[in-house]
Amino acid sequence: MEKLEIKTYPNRILRKKAEKVNNVEEVEELIDKMKNTLEEVNGIGLAAPQVGVSKQVFVVKDGHHYYAFMNPEIVEKSEETTKTQEGCLSFPGLWVDVDRPKKVKLKALTEDGERMLLEADGVGAVVFQHEIDHLFGNLLIDKLPFSKKIKIYFKNLFNEKRAD
Ligand code: NI
Repeated sequence: MEKLEIKTYPNRILRKKAEKVNNVEEVEELIDKMKNTLEEVNGIGLAAPQVGVSKQVFVVKDGHHYYAFMNPEIVEKSEETTKTQEGCLSFPGLWVDVDRPKKVKLKALTEDGERMLLEADGVGAVVFQHEIDHLFGNLLIDKLPFSKKIKIYFKNLFNEKRAD
């Protein structure tokens, strides 16, 4: 199975708002490849824009299983927040303390084409929120103060080839 190339910041696709998926068949192959890619890099979450596809699809790892979700929508967030150190495959080597709601409820389309209501807490809640952020062009770096953000932007711009 083919492994996909992970786009790193500041690749412009990471900032684009992804399009909704109309039917699961159109992204079946993409989902398989994304799961495989996530397994190969030993990650816990991957969103389609990170592999160059601007569609509302993300995959997450839970134990030894990989699940894909589409067109997610957060419908409820807890007032209680929790701070977690987050990393991102599109920002190799960057770790940022991020404060997020501790629990979330979301609606999403599953690989079986069913619309489900999911509840997540702990690491699951962090991963869901992080991946959903990707689908709307929101990135880990946005959680940093502006001065740090601008430094990382230029560092990445000059160190990596800027692919579109
Ligand atoms: Ni990420």
